Amino acid sequence: MTSLSSSKSAALTGTLKVPGDKSISHRSLILGGLAIGRTAVSGLLEGEDVLATAAAMRALGASVNRLDDGTWEVFGRGIGTLDEPEDVLDLGNSGTAARLLMGLVAGHPINAVFTGDASLRRRPMSRITTPLSQIGAVFHGRSGGRLPLCVEGATDPLPIRYTLPVASAQVKSAILLAGLNTPGETTVIEPEKTRDHTETMFRHFGADVRVEDLPEGRVITLTGQPEFKASDIVVPADPSSAAFPAVAALITPDSDITLLAVGLNPLRFGVFETLLEMGADIEISNRRIEAGEPVGDIRVRSSALKGIEVPAERAPSMIDEYPILSVAAAFAEGATIMRGVGELRVKESDRLGAMAKGLAAAGVRVEEGEDTLAVTGSANGVAGGATIEADLDHRIAMSFLVLGMGAEAPVVIDDGRTIDTSFPGFADLMRGAGAKIDTGAEA
Ligand code: S3P
Repeated sequence: MTSLSSSKSAALTGTLKVPGDKSISHRSLILGGLAIGRTAVSGLLEGEDVLATAAAMRALGASVNRLDDGTWEVFGRGIGTLDEPEDVLDLGNSGTAARLLMGLVAGHPINAVFTGDASLRRRPMSRITTPLSQIGAVFHGRSGGRLPLCVEGATDPLPIRYTLPVASAQVKSAILLAGLNTPGETTVIEPEKTRDHTETMFRHFGADVRVEDLPEGRVITLTGQPEFKASDIVVPADPSSAAFPAVAALITPDSDITLLAVGLNPLRFGVFETLLEMGADIEISNRRIEAGEPVGDIRVRSSALKGIEVPAERAPSMIDEYPILSVAAAFAEGATIMRGVGELRVKESDRLGAMAKGLAAAGVRVEEGEDTLAVTGSANGVAGGATIEADLDHRIAMSFLVLGMGAEAPVVIDDGRTIDTSFPGFADLMRGAGAKIDTGAEA
């Protein structure tokens, strides 16, 4: 294990480019690997999660290569032509890779065995095996529907109409990916809107996807068996990753940073909306569209934040950002109450529990409910001085390193290795802007 520590930092300054969007990176390799011809992907996140998807797509028959200039080149053979993998597909720490690829395999007449690290093996999979069984796939797994799991893809996949019981883009995407090799129309109804990168990219590759906003929610209908045309992709910088330097700049006096080419998809932007409501000085410029996704530069300057209520309806648009928002809340005057955040319990770790425990250890007033978190900040600042167990969770590790940058005493993370799953180079990039982050000894 490699420990990391952070301590009170001077002003953060400069122009930073955080790595590519994780959600869009996974999808670009999967969809590129289904298109006939060459898809060039630039700005791909070269984190372990996405590299696991690249390896899995190769095992399923696609050609995926990194060129010297950092562009990734993907060649597929068309929907319906996947090879049966010769070995177990190990998706490491990545729930997105596992769930999206199980959906893809479920719609093809092949068998594949999926596994992952200790964190992924404890995450629930019945949320996807239930709808994918209706399509005709068969699953053999451990009790509780957890990995390792064998997927027997459907020989004659059936189109389904499915209402999501949890607001999850991974579940929606798994069903739509299974629907690609299914004749007829596959429909997903989402009572609460979730990130729409799959639908946007399906269209980019030439599929017919209809989206209607009806009283029952957003209704997404895919016409099956499209012919995907290879189409180049420019991956925006990940707003979920950008949130870490953004909050670091907000809580560190005299900071002024600009984050370049960040994805501004409204279904991902809840954390910036919330920070603005808390009084953050955030400006967006240079707005444009790349491969169907809105992108822009975000300037963040240190600000006096105040506590607010974050409504449950906002949760899907910032589901990965509650850990770092809780850090912002610890430095805000008054209480920040986050509602409707029960899904955090089944992420890479139980993030509600991890944040409550870590914040309390760092001297912050915090109350954890079944699906709420209340953090009360104070003008006296944050004590810090805690050692945090990252529990195989990259976002818990990065959040507490940011907390340590504003705290009175240093904060130690027991194991920072999982940061590479989503944000390779995090410590170096932050140090370059002025952060005090030290790499400790092997624990
Ligand atoms: C993701 C969806 C979210 C998010 C994850 C990435 C995606 O998960 O937490 O990091 O790329 O579709 P859920 O769909 O399970 O909420």
